[in-house]
Amino acid sequence: MVHIIPTVTLKDGVEIPVVGFGTANVKGNQGATAIASAITNGYRLIDSAYNYENEGAVGEGIRRAGVPREKLLVASKLPGRYHQYDEAVKAIQESLFRANVDYFDLYLIHWPNPKQDHYVEAWQALIDAQKWGLVRSIGVSNFLPEHLERLEKETGILPSVNQIELHPFFNQEEQREWHEKHGIVTESWSPLYRAKHTMENETLQYVAHKYSKSVAQVILRWHYQLGAITIPKSTSPNRQLENISIFDFALDYEDMEMIGKLTRPDGRINGQNPAEYEEF
Ligand SMILES: NC(=O)c1ccc[n+]([C@@H]2O[C@H](COP(=O)([O-])OP(=O)(O)OC[C@H]3O[C@@H](n4cnc5c(N)ncnc54)[C@H](OP(=O)(O)O)[C@@H]3O)[C@@H](O)[C@H]2O)c1
Repeated sequence: MVHIIPTVTLKDGVEIPVVGFGTANVKGNQGATAIASAITNGYRLIDSAYNYENEGAVGEGIRRAGVPREKLLVASKLPGRYHQYDEAVKAIQESLFRANVDYFDLYLIHWPNPKQDHYVEAWQALIDAQKWGLVRSIGVSNFLPEHLERLEKETGILPSVNQIELHPFFNQEEQREWHEKHGIVTESWSPLYRAKHTMENETLQYVAHKYSKSVAQVILRWHYQLGAITIPKSTSPNRQLENISIFDFALDYEDMEMIGKLTRPDGRINGQNPAEYEEF
């Protein structure tokens, strides 16, 4: 049975599923098999990045799954070393060649790298790539409100999506509120906290038991009810299915609050604060 995943419409009109497939470290032949399996299981949004070195595996997974291109949403991200305008344009074109697609449905700036101070140029390249039909929707990842404000001030255009670290141990309440006020959709990376410490957490186990669901399902449902898109990664076909089987129950207010309270100021997985951390 193929699961139907609800969608949201982004500010630039693109309709996007609320659960997509994460592909960090999913590459090569095994990666293409895992991506094809995710598509066969019902995933329609595939998250990739130039720096994952797997846009080729995404293209191959799409080919193997046999689902028409127009039914899928393919996303990738611009690396930090190509923020300068001309470099950014070439990187987007190169990403397309690697994935063997004519357009991306969503393309993000992977990290702002504020100390380098070229992210506005990179954003201008995405704006132009959208005009040229290379990308349907343009967004960012790991941008703080101060970076988003600058994009708006200098280009007049805010991203459709901001993909940020978000999980029960780092609930990003203020950043989510900022997004909501500005019509930006929040997308959660590492939504399961990479399945480290989450599966054995007592609160999450208590809630999972209450709804007769798995801990992963309860966490992904929590994101959905917060209004965030998730992109859980799994190479297991069974866990892929488990992670999209979250639309037949609802967490009540108390359980949403209880999960939200697991957040800690130092709850980021590797302490990657976008104000300081840079990735190239
Ligand atoms: N923009 C950014 O800077 C950024 C940074 C990090 C990640 N991302 C994106 O976000 C995606 C998701 O994040 P992530 O891969 O770091 O972590 P994640 O999705 O939170 O967790 C993945 C881990 O959880 C396990 N898992 C998945 N489903 C499970 C289930 N139902 N029960 C138990 N374990 C389960 C997986 O193992 P199995 O594969 O064995 O199932 C894998 O080890 C990435 O793949 C990438 O696309 C973006």
